[in-house]
Amino acid sequence: MSLELLKNLNPGIADLHPYEPGRSIDEVMLEYGLTEVIKLASNENPLGASPKALSLLKNSSKGFHLYPDGNGTKLKKVIATHEKLSSENIILGNGSNEVLELAARAFLNPESSAIASCHAFAVYKIVTQSSGATLIEVPTKNWGHDLQEFPQHISSETKIIFIANPNNPTGTYNTHQEVYDLLAKIPASILVVLDCAYFEYVEKCDYVDPLALLAEFDNLMVTKSFSKIHGLASVRIGYGLSNPALIEVLNRVRQPFNVNALAQDLACAALEDKEHSQKSIHLNRIEGLFLLNELTNLGLECIPSVGNFISFKGEFNGQETFKKLMARGVIVRPIDLYDMPNFLRVTIGTHDENLRFLEELALLL
Ligand SMILES: Cc1ncc(COP(=O)(O)O)c(C=O)c1O
Repeated sequence: MSLELLKNLNPGIADLHPYEPGRSIDEVMLEYGLTEVIKLASNENPLGASPKALSLLKNSSKGFHLYPDGNGTKLKKVIATHEKLSSENIILGNGSNEVLELAARAFLNPESSAIASCHAFAVYKIVTQSSGATLIEVPTKNWGHDLQEFPQHISSETKIIFIANPNNPTGTYNTHQEVYDLLAKIPASILVVLDCAYFEYVEKCDYVDPLALLAEFDNLMVTKSFSKIHGLASVRIGYGLSNPALIEVLNRVRQPFNVNALAQDLACAALEDKEHSQKSIHLNRIEGLFLLNELTNLGLECIPSVGNFISFKGEFNGQETFKKLMARGVIVRPIDLYDMPNFLRVTIGTHDENLRFLEELALLL
Protein backbone atom coordinates (compact mmCIF):
# COMPACT_ATOMS: atom_id res chain seq x y z
CA MET A 1 0.00 0.00 0.00
CA SER A 2 1.24 3.48 -0.84
CA LEU A 3 2.60 5.24 2.23
CA GLU A 4 1.45 8.51 0.63
CA LEU A 5 -1.98 7.62 1.93
CA LEU A 6 -0.78 7.51 5.52
CA LYS A 7 0.28 11.16 5.31
CA ASN A 8 -3.43 11.99 5.49
CA LEU A 9 -4.00 9.98 8.65
CA ASN A 10 -5.62 11.96 11.46
CA PRO A 11 -2.81 13.09 13.80
CA GLY A 12 -4.33 11.45 16.90
CA ILE A 13 -4.32 8.07 15.17
CA ALA A 14 -0.74 8.35 13.89
CA ASP A 15 0.75 7.92 17.36
CA LEU A 16 -1.87 5.59 18.76
CA HIS A 17 -0.96 2.07 19.80
CA PRO A 18 -3.64 -0.52 18.94
CA TYR A 19 -5.36 -2.20 21.89
CA GLU A 20 -3.53 -5.42 22.64
CA PRO A 21 -6.01 -8.17 23.50
CA GLY A 22 -5.01 -11.12 25.66
CA ARG A 23 -3.62 -14.03 23.60
CA SER A 24 -6.19 -16.72 22.86
CA ILE A 25 -5.85 -20.32 24.04
CA ASP A 26 -5.99 -21.69 20.47
CA GLU A 27 -3.33 -19.29 19.27
CA VAL A 28 -0.96 -20.20 22.12
CA MET A 29 -1.57 -23.96 21.72
CA LEU A 30 -0.66 -23.68 18.06
CA GLU A 31 2.37 -21.46 18.55
CA TYR A 32 3.94 -23.52 21.36
CA GLY A 33 2.63 -26.97 20.42
CA LEU A 34 0.86 -27.27 23.80
CA THR A 35 -2.19 -29.34 24.61
CA GLU A 36 -3.18 -27.69 27.90
CA VAL A 37 -3.29 -23.94 28.14
CA ILE A 38 -5.08 -21.78 30.70
CA LYS A 39 -6.01 -18.17 30.06
CA LEU A 40 -5.94 -15.72 32.96
CA ALA A 41 -5.36 -12.73 30.72
CA SER A 42 -8.58 -10.85 30.04
CA ASN A 43 -10.54 -10.77 33.31
CA GLU A 44 -13.20 -13.18 32.06
CA ASN A 45 -15.36 -15.27 34.41
CA PRO A 46 -13.53 -18.57 35.16
CA LEU A 47 -16.92 -20.25 35.81
CA GLY A 48 -17.96 -19.46 32.24
CA ALA A 49 -21.26 -18.02 31.08
CA SER A 50 -24.46 -18.15 33.09
CA PRO A 51 -25.97 -21.68 32.68
CA LYS A 52 -29.38 -20.04 32.24
CA ALA A 53 -28.04 -18.07 29.28
CA LEU A 54 -26.33 -21.12 27.81
CA SER A 55 -29.52 -23.16 28.01
CA LEU A 56 -31.03 -20.79 25.43
CA LEU A 57 -28.53 -21.97 22.84
CA LYS A 58 -30.32 -25.32 22.55
CA ASN A 59 -33.29 -23.56 20.94
CA SER A 60 -31.47 -20.81 19.15
CA SER A 61 -31.78 -21.93 15.54
CA LYS A 62 -34.68 -19.60 14.72
CA GLY A 63 -34.56 -16.06 13.36
CA PHE A 64 -30.95 -15.88 12.18
CA HIS A 65 -32.09 -14.38 8.84
CA LEU A 66 -33.76 -11.45 10.62
CA TYR A 67 -32.06 -8.29 11.83
CA PRO A 68 -31.96 -8.07 15.61
CA ASP A 69 -34.26 -5.71 17.50
CA GLY A 70 -32.42 -2.45 16.82
CA ASN A 71 -33.87 -0.92 19.99
CA GLY A 72 -33.06 -3.88 22.22
CA THR A 73 -36.55 -3.48 23.69
CA LYS A 74 -36.74 -6.68 25.73
CA LEU A 75 -33.19 -6.46 27.08
CA LYS A 76 -33.61 -2.81 28.01
CA LYS A 77 -36.69 -3.74 30.02
CA VAL A 78 -34.74 -6.42 31.88
CA ILE A 79 -31.86 -4.01 32.52
CA ALA A 80 -34.30 -1.29 33.60
CA THR A 81 -35.80 -3.60 36.23
CA HIS A 82 -32.35 -4.67 37.38
CA GLU A 83 -31.07 -1.09 37.62
CA LYS A 84 -34.33 0.42 38.92
CA LEU A 85 -34.40 2.85 36.00
CA SER A 86 -36.46 3.02 32.81
CA SER A 87 -35.66 1.94 29.25
CA GLU A 88 -35.05 5.55 28.18
CA ASN A 89 -32.09 5.64 30.56
CA ILE A 90 -30.31 2.84 28.72
CA ILE A 91 -28.11 2.53 25.64
CA LEU A 92 -26.84 -0.86 24.53
CA GLY A 93 -23.37 -1.35 23.10
CA ASN A 94 -21.33 -3.96 21.32
CA GLY A 95 -19.45 -4.41 24.57
CA SER A 96 -19.29 -1.47 26.99
CA ASN A 97 -16.30 -0.36 24.92
CA GLU A 98 -18.69 0.70 22.21
CA VAL A 99 -20.59 2.91 24.65
CA LEU A 100 -17.29 4.60 25.57
CA GLU A 101 -16.67 5.15 21.88
CA LEU A 102 -20.15 6.59 21.31
CA ALA A 103 -19.51 9.13 24.07
CA ALA A 104 -16.24 10.15 22.44
CA ARG A 105 -17.85 10.36 19.00
CA ALA A 106 -20.62 12.58 20.31
CA PHE A 107 -18.49 15.00 22.36
CA LEU A 108 -14.86 14.99 21.25
CA ASN A 109 -13.14 16.64 18.28
CA PRO A 110 -9.63 17.99 17.51
CA GLU A 111 -10.34 21.18 19.50
CA SER A 112 -11.28 19.32 22.67
CA SER A 113 -9.74 17.13 25.34
CA ALA A 114 -10.69 14.40 27.77
CA ILE A 115 -9.28 13.63 31.22
CA ALA A 116 -8.44 10.24 32.69
CA SER A 117 -6.03 8.90 35.26
CA CYS A 118 -2.54 7.64 34.45
CA HIS A 119 -2.57 3.80 34.27
CA ALA A 120 -6.29 3.92 33.40
CA PHE A 121 -8.04 1.50 31.06
CA ALA A 122 -6.42 1.78 27.59
CA VAL A 123 -9.61 2.30 25.63
CA TYR A 124 -10.05 5.89 26.93
CA LYS A 125 -6.94 6.93 25.03
CA ILE A 126 -7.98 5.03 21.92
CA VAL A 127 -11.46 6.56 21.68
CA THR A 128 -10.18 10.04 22.59
CA GLN A 129 -7.35 10.15 20.07
CA SER A 130 -9.49 8.47 17.40
CA SER A 131 -11.79 11.49 17.70
CA GLY A 132 -8.78 13.79 17.16
CA ALA A 133 -8.93 14.99 20.78
CA THR A 134 -6.18 14.99 23.40
CA LEU A 135 -6.18 12.82 26.52
CA ILE A 136 -4.87 14.50 29.65
CA GLU A 137 -3.63 11.96 32.17
CA VAL A 138 -3.65 12.79 35.88
CA PRO A 139 -0.98 11.14 38.09
CA THR A 140 -2.26 8.44 40.41
CA LYS A 141 -2.16 8.31 44.21
CA ASN A 142 -1.19 4.84 45.49
CA TRP A 143 -2.04 3.56 42.00
CA GLY A 144 -5.63 4.84 42.32
CA HIS A 145 -7.40 7.66 40.46
CA ASP A 146 -6.69 10.88 42.35
CA LEU A 147 -10.10 12.46 41.72
CA GLN A 148 -9.34 15.44 43.96
CA GLU A 149 -6.68 16.45 41.44
CA PHE A 150 -8.91 16.11 38.37
CA PRO A 151 -10.51 19.61 38.53
CA GLN A 152 -7.05 21.23 38.34
CA HIS A 153 -6.69 19.77 34.83
CA ILE A 154 -10.01 21.05 33.50
CA SER A 155 -9.96 23.74 30.83
CA SER A 156 -12.52 25.14 28.38
CA GLU A 157 -11.49 22.29 26.06
CA THR A 158 -12.44 19.52 28.49
CA LYS A 159 -15.53 17.64 27.30
CA ILE A 160 -15.28 14.22 28.95
CA ILE A 161 -13.83 12.78 32.15
CA PHE A 162 -13.32 9.01 32.16
CA ILE A 163 -13.25 7.23 35.52
CA ALA A 164 -12.64 3.49 35.65
CA ASN A 165 -14.17 2.28 38.88
CA PRO A 166 -12.64 -0.17 39.59
CA ASN A 167 -9.75 0.53 37.26
CA ASN A 168 -8.15 -2.04 35.03
CA PRO A 169 -5.23 -2.86 35.35
CA THR A 170 -4.65 -1.50 38.87
CA GLY A 171 -7.80 -2.93 40.51
CA THR A 172 -8.17 0.24 42.60
CA TYR A 173 -11.53 1.92 43.23
CA ASN A 174 -12.93 5.32 44.11
CA THR A 175 -15.48 5.79 46.88
CA HIS A 176 -18.96 7.16 46.36
CA GLN A 177 -17.94 10.33 48.18
CA GLU A 178 -14.90 10.89 45.97
CA VAL A 179 -16.96 10.55 42.80
CA TYR A 180 -19.73 12.70 44.29
CA ASP A 181 -17.29 15.46 45.26
CA LEU A 182 -15.84 15.53 41.75
CA LEU A 183 -19.27 15.70 40.13
CA ALA A 184 -20.31 18.47 42.51
CA LYS A 185 -17.19 20.50 41.74
CA ILE A 186 -17.01 20.41 37.93
CA PRO A 187 -19.08 22.26 35.31
CA ALA A 188 -22.29 20.43 34.35
CA SER A 189 -21.23 20.77 30.70
CA ILE A 190 -18.55 18.10 31.10
CA LEU A 191 -19.66 14.50 30.62
CA VAL A 192 -18.38 12.14 33.32
CA VAL A 193 -18.19 8.52 32.17
CA LEU A 194 -18.08 6.23 35.18
CA ASP A 195 -16.92 2.89 33.84
CA CYS A 196 -18.20 0.14 36.15
CA ALA A 197 -17.29 -2.93 34.08
CA TYR A 198 -16.33 -4.82 37.28
CA PHE A 199 -19.15 -3.36 39.42
CA GLU A 200 -20.55 -6.66 40.73
CA TYR A 201 -17.23 -7.84 42.15
CA VAL A 202 -16.75 -4.85 44.45
CA GLU A 203 -17.65 -5.63 48.05
CA LYS A 204 -16.78 -2.32 49.69
CA CYS A 205 -19.47 -0.46 51.60
CA ASP A 206 -18.13 2.94 50.49
CA TYR A 207 -18.22 2.00 46.79
CA VAL A 208 -20.34 4.05 44.37
CA ASP A 209 -24.13 3.93 44.30
CA PRO A 210 -24.72 4.70 40.60
CA LEU A 211 -28.45 5.22 41.02
CA ALA A 212 -27.99 7.96 43.64
CA LEU A 213 -25.40 9.72 41.46
CA LEU A 214 -27.53 9.45 38.32
CA ALA A 215 -30.49 10.92 40.20
CA GLU A 216 -28.48 14.02 41.03
CA PHE A 217 -26.14 14.58 38.05
CA ASP A 218 -27.37 14.86 34.46
CA ASN A 219 -23.81 14.97 33.14
CA LEU A 220 -23.06 11.42 34.35
CA MET A 221 -23.10 8.20 32.35
CA VAL A 222 -22.43 4.86 34.06
CA THR A 223 -21.26 1.97 31.87
CA LYS A 224 -21.50 -1.73 32.68
CA SER A 225 -20.44 -4.91 30.92
CA PHE A 226 -21.77 -8.41 30.31
CA SER A 227 -18.20 -9.60 29.65
CA LYS A 228 -17.13 -10.00 33.25
CA ILE A 229 -19.48 -11.37 35.95
CA HIS A 230 -21.99 -12.61 33.34
CA GLY A 231 -19.35 -14.49 31.36
CA LEU A 232 -20.50 -13.26 27.94
CA ALA A 233 -17.26 -11.67 26.68
CA SER A 234 -17.39 -13.46 23.33
CA VAL A 235 -20.80 -12.15 22.25
CA ARG A 236 -19.87 -8.49 22.97
CA ILE A 237 -22.51 -6.70 24.94
CA GLY A 238 -22.57 -3.88 27.47
CA TYR A 239 -24.65 -0.82 28.32
CA GLY A 240 -24.66 2.77 29.42
CA LEU A 241 -27.03 4.42 31.92
CA SER A 242 -27.80 8.11 31.84
CA ASN A 243 -30.57 10.66 31.50
CA PRO A 244 -32.87 10.22 28.46
CA ALA A 245 -31.56 13.35 26.69
CA LEU A 246 -27.99 12.06 26.65
CA ILE A 247 -29.11 8.54 25.68
CA GLU A 248 -31.02 10.04 22.75
CA VAL A 249 -27.90 11.89 21.55
CA LEU A 250 -25.78 8.74 21.75
CA ASN A 251 -28.42 6.81 19.82
CA ARG A 252 -27.92 9.25 16.94
CA VAL A 253 -24.31 8.12 16.44
CA ARG A 254 -24.92 4.42 17.12
CA GLN A 255 -24.87 1.89 14.29
CA PRO A 256 -28.45 0.66 13.64
CA PHE A 257 -27.99 -2.98 14.68
CA ASN A 258 -24.97 -2.74 16.93
CA VAL A 259 -25.99 -5.56 19.28
CA ASN A 260 -26.79 -8.92 17.74
CA ALA A 261 -29.90 -10.92 18.61
CA LEU A 262 -28.09 -13.79 20.32
CA ALA A 263 -26.20 -11.38 22.58
CA GLN A 264 -29.46 -9.67 23.55
CA ASP A 265 -31.14 -12.98 24.43
CA LEU A 266 -28.16 -14.31 26.36
CA ALA A 267 -27.81 -11.03 28.26
CA CYS A 268 -31.50 -11.12 29.32
CA ALA A 269 -31.07 -14.61 30.76
CA ALA A 270 -27.68 -13.86 32.33
CA LEU A 271 -28.92 -10.79 34.16
CA GLU A 272 -31.68 -12.83 35.75
CA ASP A 273 -29.30 -15.64 36.76
CA LYS A 274 -28.56 -14.36 40.26
CA GLU A 275 -27.24 -17.75 41.34
CA HIS A 276 -24.43 -17.65 38.79
CA SER A 277 -23.51 -14.09 39.75
CA GLN A 278 -23.40 -15.03 43.46
CA LYS A 279 -21.26 -18.10 42.76
CA SER A 280 -18.89 -15.99 40.68
CA ILE A 281 -18.59 -13.32 43.38
CA HIS A 282 -17.96 -15.98 46.03
CA LEU A 283 -15.24 -17.69 43.98
CA ASN A 284 -13.61 -14.36 43.24
CA ARG A 285 -13.56 -13.43 46.94
CA ILE A 286 -12.00 -16.73 48.10
CA GLU A 287 -9.58 -17.15 45.23
CA GLY A 288 -8.63 -13.47 45.16
CA LEU A 289 -7.50 -13.73 48.77
CA PHE A 290 -5.68 -16.98 48.07
CA LEU A 291 -3.81 -15.51 45.09
CA LEU A 292 -2.96 -12.33 46.97
CA ASN A 293 -1.45 -14.32 49.86
CA GLU A 294 0.45 -16.70 47.62
CA LEU A 295 1.85 -13.95 45.39
CA THR A 296 2.90 -12.01 48.49
CA ASN A 297 4.59 -15.14 49.89
CA LEU A 298 6.55 -15.35 46.65
CA GLY A 299 7.94 -11.89 47.44
CA LEU A 300 5.81 -10.11 44.84
CA GLU A 301 4.23 -6.75 45.46
CA CYS A 302 0.48 -6.83 44.73
CA ILE A 303 -1.71 -3.80 44.24
CA PRO A 304 -4.82 -4.51 46.40
CA SER A 305 -7.62 -5.16 43.91
CA VAL A 306 -11.40 -5.06 44.23
CA GLY A 307 -11.85 -6.53 40.75
CA ASN A 308 -11.41 -10.05 39.38
CA PHE A 309 -7.72 -9.61 38.64
CA ILE A 310 -4.51 -8.68 40.45
CA SER A 311 -1.56 -6.71 39.15
CA PHE A 312 1.73 -7.55 40.82
CA LYS A 313 5.28 -6.35 40.57
CA GLY A 314 8.44 -8.38 40.71
CA GLU A 315 12.08 -8.08 39.92
CA PHE A 316 11.35 -9.10 36.37
CA ASN A 317 10.53 -7.66 33.02
CA GLY A 318 6.78 -8.17 32.57
CA GLN A 319 6.99 -8.90 28.84
CA GLU A 320 9.74 -11.51 29.31
CA THR A 321 8.00 -13.31 32.18
CA PHE A 322 4.71 -13.18 30.27
CA LYS A 323 6.37 -14.95 27.31
CA LYS A 324 8.01 -17.56 29.52
CA LEU A 325 4.73 -18.28 31.27
CA MET A 326 2.97 -18.54 27.94
CA ALA A 327 5.50 -21.09 26.70
CA ARG A 328 4.52 -23.14 29.80
CA GLY A 329 0.83 -22.90 28.97
CA VAL A 330 -0.27 -20.01 31.20
CA ILE A 331 -1.48 -16.81 29.58
CA VAL A 332 -1.45 -13.69 31.76
CA ARG A 333 -1.10 -10.05 30.75
CA PRO A 334 1.99 -7.85 30.59
CA ILE A 335 1.05 -4.23 31.27
CA ASP A 336 4.05 -2.30 29.98
CA LEU A 337 1.67 -0.32 27.75
CA TYR A 338 0.19 1.06 30.98
CA ASP A 339 3.67 2.27 32.00
CA MET A 340 3.98 -0.68 34.34
CA PRO A 341 6.87 -2.65 32.77
CA ASN A 342 7.75 -4.63 35.92
CA PHE A 343 4.20 -5.81 36.47
CA LEU A 344 1.99 -8.65 35.32
CA ARG A 345 -1.78 -8.79 35.60
CA VAL A 346 -3.47 -12.09 36.34
CA THR A 347 -7.19 -12.81 36.25
CA ILE A 348 -8.45 -14.58 39.36
CA GLY A 349 -9.26 -18.07 38.07
CA THR A 350 -10.61 -21.30 39.51
CA HIS A 351 -8.54 -22.84 42.32
CA ASP A 352 -6.92 -25.29 39.90
CA GLU A 353 -6.07 -22.55 37.43
CA ASN A 354 -4.61 -20.39 40.16
CA LEU A 355 -2.49 -23.29 41.48
CA ARG A 356 -1.17 -24.02 38.00
CA PHE A 357 -0.33 -20.35 37.44
CA LEU A 358 1.44 -20.08 40.83
CA GLU A 359 3.40 -23.27 40.22
CA GLU A 360 4.65 -22.12 36.82
CA LEU A 361 5.38 -18.61 38.04
CA ALA A 362 7.37 -19.85 41.05
CA LEU A 363 9.64 -21.81 38.70
CA LEU A 364 10.50 -18.61 36.86
CA LEU A 365 11.32 -16.38 39.83
C1 LIG B 1 -12.30 -1.02 32.91
C2 LIG B 1 -12.89 -1.66 31.71
N1 LIG B 1 -13.89 -1.04 31.07
C3 LIG B 1 -14.47 -1.58 29.98
C4 LIG B 1 -14.05 -2.78 29.47
C5 LIG B 1 -14.68 -3.28 28.21
O1 LIG B 1 -15.52 -4.34 28.41
P1 LIG B 1 -16.51 -4.86 27.28
O2 LIG B 1 -16.11 -6.26 27.04
O3 LIG B 1 -17.87 -4.69 27.87
O4 LIG B 1 -16.34 -3.99 26.06
C6 LIG B 1 -13.01 -3.47 30.09
C7 LIG B 1 -12.53 -4.74 29.54
O5 LIG B 1 -11.60 -5.35 29.94
C8 LIG B 1 -12.42 -2.89 31.23
O6 LIG B 1 -11.40 -3.51 31.85
